Amino acid sequence: MSMRPPFPIDLVSDTATRPSPAMREVMARAEVGDEQRGEDPSVNALTEKVAAMLGQEAAIFLPSGTMCNQIALAVHCLPGDEIIAAGNSHIVSSEGAGASVFAHSVIRGIGSERGIFSTQELAAAVRSPGVKAPRSKVVCIEQTNNRGGGAVWPLETVHEIVGAARDLNLALHMDGARLMNACVATQVSAESYAKPFDSVWLDLSKGLGCPIGGVLAGSAEFIQQANRWKHRFGGAMRQAGIVAAAGLYALEHNIDRLAEDHCNARLFAEQIRELPGICLRFDRIDTNLVFFDVSDSGKTSAEIARGLAEYGVRIGVESQSLMRVVFHLDINTSMVGTAAEALKAVLVQ
Ligand SMILES: Cc1ncc(COP(=O)(O)O)c(C=O)c1O
Repeated sequence: MSMRPPFPIDLVSDTATRPSPAMREVMARAEVGDEQRGEDPSVNALTEKVAAMLGQEAAIFLPSGTMCNQIALAVHCLPGDEIIAAGNSHIVSSEGAGASVFAHSVIRGIGSERGIFSTQELAAAVRSPGVKAPRSKVVCIEQTNNRGGGAVWPLETVHEIVGAARDLNLALHMDGARLMNACVATQVSAESYAKPFDSVWLDLSKGLGCPIGGVLAGSAEFIQQANRWKHRFGGAMRQAGIVAAAGLYALEHNIDRLAEDHCNARLFAEQIRELPGICLRFDRIDTNLVFFDVSDSGKTSAEIARGLAEYGVRIGVESQSLMRVVFHLDINTSMVGTAAEALKAVLVQ
């Protein structure tokens, strides 16, 4: 069995991380039981820990972040409801229109460069009551906002949105795929960001380095309903403690080190900032994502990606001219320099 990744420097996503030997060791030794019956001690320990971290009553372990979002929306919404979110959100463009399929609801996107909107924009997106329009039901914020360049929702703005949502009678959902990146970048606790939300989840399989999993938290009543959807989706598992153990390990060992990914992202941005034909999409790098535009390079994103592959480097093609680079625990500082040099070489080819 080959342990070598297909790309030695894989910057396509923070999901490219592979479980470390220490994580695998913990997984191999995990205590397990039947998760579907609530009998897996490692899963129970993980869900209790995450619920406490997020200031919520309860949590469930799910196979993916997408399932966390889709189950939360299905619990919050009735057919014909409307979900309000930044237009660039993952739930809008990257979950197979799941909100319409499972929650029978539509999403109203608020246009925003960095995925962060104001209370005024939220209020403007809410429908007047009546029989013709959809019923505004839930507001979703993505912390950090992926396509906004890993932008952090400031705590103050989060609290303003929470207050406005309560006044507007909206439920609150947080897509916390990279919540821990926001916490490390701002030194604000996960509880401070997450406690006022009706549902909130964090992803274990991104910067935290686990092979699988997300944990969705909320009130005991919300989680009971979410559990029904988990069964319905076929997401209830058996000896899932093997993967939950990786989550427990990650929460202990892989949070503080996210700061290194943020440093590497800033370093890479500085190294490519002046390259001819490259324009950083967002000047400020809050966390671990760097987006850049290649319109002026005379090459398409796909051509650049193909060129980089020759150097063993993979980065994301977002569109014809937009590329994304993501830093994570399998990328060290010397790889940052190698990737920037490879990009420089490809641009002049
Ligand atoms: C902001 C955001 N939300 C949700 C997801 C979905 O997570 P998963 O790939 O675990 O389904 C992603 C994945 O990239 C994401 O970036």
